Amino acid sequence: MKVLVVGGGGREHTLCWKLAQSEEVEKVYCAPGNAGIARDAECVPIRADDIPALLEFARGNNIELTVAGPELPLTLGIADAFREAGLRIFGPVKAAAALEGSKVFAKEFMREMSIPTADFAVFDDLDSAVAHLDTIDFPTVVKADGLAAGKGVLVAKDKTEAAEFLRLTMSDKKFGDAGARVLIEDCLAGEECSILALADGRDMIVLTPSQDHKRAYDNDEGLNTGGMGAYSPISIVGDSDIEKIKELVLQPVVDGMNKKGSPFVGVIYAGLMLTENGPMVLEYNVRFGDPECQAVIPLIEGDFARMLALAADGRIGEVDWKPASRSALCVVMASGGYPGSYAKGEPISGLAAAGDMDDVVVFHAGTAEKDGRIVTAGGRVLGVTALADDLAAAQQLAYEAVGKISWKDVHYRKDIGKRDLERS
Ligand code: AMP
Ligand code: GLY
Repeated sequence: MKVLVVGGGGREHTLCWKLAQSEEVEKVYCAPGNAGIARDAECVPIRADDIPALLEFARGNNIELTVAGPELPLTLGIADAFREAGLRIFGPVKAAAALEGSKVFAKEFMREMSIPTADFAVFDDLDSAVAHLDTIDFPTVVKADGLAAGKGVLVAKDKTEAAEFLRLTMSDKKFGDAGARVLIEDCLAGEECSILALADGRDMIVLTPSQDHKRAYDNDEGLNTGGMGAYSPISIVGDSDIEKIKELVLQPVVDGMNKKGSPFVGVIYAGLMLTENGPMVLEYNVRFGDPECQAVIPLIEGDFARMLALAADGRIGEVDWKPASRSALCVVMASGGYPGSYAKGEPISGLAAAGDMDDVVVFHAGTAEKDGRIVTAGGRVLGVTALADDLAAAQQLAYEAVGKISWKDVHYRKDIGKRDLERS
């Protein structure tokens, strides 16, 4: 079959790389893709949010499976448009994608479905939000309702910080319309983890749990980023925990969305806090986590295209699935300055030396080709993933590969996976 992947980051490179290995796949297209994706797929110059053009491309090229990578096209209704046109797509319809598109919708859904999550209050005017701060304990968490590229959340240590963030969000409109409504919720303590499940509208496969590293610098210091590295599996979530997580936070999504008449087909990504009182949901996303999927997808044994196609057809029960037998660790290599401002166009050296190593894959997140060379073109530039029999070996191999790659002002964390290794 011919497959179309929508998007152009590290997640989409991982999807294209894995799909290209499938026996059932004749050709992979990626819109718009990037310089690294171009090695595994044919890149087509269509933006990920240009739904009419994507639809026309899929129709015109006999695409039998479309996989929507990022959240934006999903919240804009790409799955609705494809399904209405009779085209097979892996990704939830707009009404189900609201689980990521609106944090208020997600929290209200969780309350309705009795899914464990922090207590919260919703505000659509600044004065009442600020007044609420006098009635609560600190730290607290303030969240913009809509999509804000991961920047719309603040864990505030005191009232001053929370009030300032509320003003920036609601009055200065730092996140545009995404901040017209806010949530103020209890701050939870514990270890965070990411659970990705492939849902077919009724049933699901829970992929191997992973952990992201959201802060920019070692020891979880610095600003929040899109994610600086990930590894999978994780020692803090065992097989019996997965069953419990499925029952508490994943199956209720499928059941709840069915009740609402918008069956969930696609990735349910639960960002969890593992608290003293059990797992609690921080957020839901409706797509693969990035960089989590750069560790989780390479671990999947079996035909990935068949898995996603069966999920899209509501037949995921037919997938022959077993949990990963190895470990994977991904180190994100970023431009100096990220998540703040950074330079672009820096030539990258050492890509072939790293990419040629056994059990190493270099995924491209933000790269471009210029005069025949691969150059940096984003904040997160590469995700270097290594696979090995255990986490320690995967970590060692990943950093060996990272050591071969360089460009001016490259920045990466040196402690991906460290906490888990210290724990064991
Ligand atoms: P979110 O986009 O909702 O996942 O929030 C981004 C990050 O903020 C999470 O990965 C957590 O580190 C932190 N966070 C969000 N909600 C809470 C909460 N209720 N308690 C503690 N930390 C939180
Ligand atoms: N790594 C966090 C995310 O994909 O949202």
